[in-house]
Amino acid sequence: MTYAFGDFVLDLQLFQLRHGEQVVPLEPKVFDVLRYLVEHHERVATKRELLDALWPNELVTEAVLPTNINALRRALGQARGEKTPIETVHGRGYRFSVPVMRGNSSAVPARSLGSLAADLPDDEDDPFVGQQPLLEKLRKLLTRALSEQGQIVILRGETGIGKSRIARRLTDQARAQGADVWSGACPEGLGTPPLWVWQEVLRSAKVSEGGAGLRRFLGQSAAELSPWLYELLEDGDDNMLARGERDRFRLYDALVRLLTGASKVRPRVLCLEDLHRADDASWQLLRLLAPHLESLAVLVVCTVRSRDDLTTATSVQRHVEDLARLSFCSRFQVTGLSEVETGQLLNKQLGREVPHDLSRLLYQKTDGNPLFLRELSEGIMASGQSDSDALRDAPGLSPPELVRRVLLRRVERLGEAAQQLLSAAAVVGNSFELSCVAHVAGMERESVTDVVDVALASRVIVPLPDRVESFRFAHELIRDTLYSELGSGERKRLHQKIADYLSQQSSLHGQGAKEIALHYYRALPEASPGNAMTWLSRAAEECEREAAYDDAARFYRSALDAVRLMSEPSATDLTLLNQSLERVSQRQRAAESAN
Ligand SMILES: Nc1ncnc2c1ncn2[C@@H]1O[C@H](COP(=O)(O)OP(=O)(O)O)[C@@H](O)[C@H]1O
Ligand SMILES: [Mg+2]
Repeated sequence: MTYAFGDFVLDLQLFQLRHGEQVVPLEPKVFDVLRYLVEHHERVATKRELLDALWPNELVTEAVLPTNINALRRALGQARGEKTPIETVHGRGYRFSVPVMRGNSSAVPARSLGSLAADLPDDEDDPFVGQQPLLEKLRKLLTRALSEQGQIVILRGETGIGKSRIARRLTDQARAQGADVWSGACPEGLGTPPLWVWQEVLRSAKVSEGGAGLRRFLGQSAAELSPWLYELLEDGDDNMLARGERDRFRLYDALVRLLTGASKVRPRVLCLEDLHRADDASWQLLRLLAPHLESLAVLVVCTVRSRDDLTTATSVQRHVEDLARLSFCSRFQVTGLSEVETGQLLNKQLGREVPHDLSRLLYQKTDGNPLFLRELSEGIMASGQSDSDALRDAPGLSPPELVRRVLLRRVERLGEAAQQLLSAAAVVGNSFELSCVAHVAGMERESVTDVVDVALASRVIVPLPDRVESFRFAHELIRDTLYSELGSGERKRLHQKIADYLSQQSSLHGQGAKEIALHYYRALPEASPGNAMTWLSRAAEECEREAAYDDAARFYRSALDAVRLMSEPSATDLTLLNQSLERVSQRQRAAESAN
């Protein structure tokens, strides 16, 4: 439904006032006043009538009227003293005094709604990058919801991937298009009262609409319908929580009425955050409510952490799947930023052009997770490190506190056996073969398979393509975190075991000197220095053959370290190693000057 007057169009479907192509921003209440006056344009709308219609049961004085009328006149370009389009009829009320034409459909193509979102200003302190294809899809769903084809959107993804941020962009967009947003979240920790997320949603509804305003949608029977809801809207006390439990089967009926009524006045967006932590009652309420949304101007946005806790996962998974059966429910997996987007975000966060090598490294570490990127770049900024220092230190990184906690919790949830296996894997490296890790962790084959399934399901590890029973950590940061958690004695013990295992394998397959040498080196002085020296020299020779003189020099130096740890260092070994080191250094210099 639209009303046209002068150069203006009032669009009740999109909750917009347009002047030509331009959308004129209006506060929701001012919009409602305009709508009322336009709908009753043939006569004077009295002050009493306006107050009753627009502020029912609310303790407001008549003074709210001139405030809103003045805002409206400014928006319509009505100068002081002019009588059109809104005329003041002294002592009585107001009259909309220009001809109004009724139309049936919205004249604005959906595309121009989308462009509004793209133009949303970016927050300078907290820049946003990427995710455009997802936002584009969400905008389309929002447009549908605004035209009374209710939608449910479920955003899933790991911690820090950007679910809340994307939900916020969507709700900002919805607000810009005249919708009212009610939000609630499921807090962490035990002892959260039942239906908490819904309580929050209703409280936020009450803030924007007023308790009396909401009761109006429930009708006279509010108190009977759901005493819990009634009290919440009245003033609320803590006892209502217990009662909420008892009458929650009626609560859903009341909520349906509330949303049906409220969405007729203005589109409503419900933002339900972190539903993986919601109690069953909250999910049930959502599932009961869902089928009623189809023909309402309502958008429900849910965020859910991806399955990384197998105990709660099954029930959450079931709820999500049941909702997703509805044709107007869409699920999206939020994924990390691409390598290019990672670079863009780092440039914005650090306020300068970050070298490609560094942004690529941080991308590999984080898999483009914006939370982790922010933490790492803050760490780099706080340390005042130059980019080349950051690049040098990053491979042996000890992740910042927040990242560490998030990732450790993720691994802890998988249980003790998984922790043990993954810690051993972290010592092996970012990618690992299962047989090696199982051997090092001292675990039976069968139990290892179960643990791997759990770790794969929670995306702590991912399979390596084209290799049997080989995996890598989903983020290098998970590996870095687990590694930095191990005590140095434990680390050395594991490095030694890995080196022993790999060297046995190597005698069968004859390769991998560099890897074995590094594990022996890291196990020093616990490992036998003689063994370490042998492998470090072999690795150095391998590098020399590949003309990687820099690496060769590093291995020879490490071999010298190993020799010095021997109780009776052999003079011959020392001489030979020093000669080799001198040789590769010369070749390195020659190669450099040739370039
Ligand atoms: N696309 C993005 N561009 C820039 N920063 C982002 C982006 N997505 C998320 N962030 C930032 O990363 C952090 C984590 O995002 P958040 O939405 O809270 O993750 P989630 O809700 O999935 O745990 C926040 O500081 C957020 O502002
Ligand atoms: Mg979040």
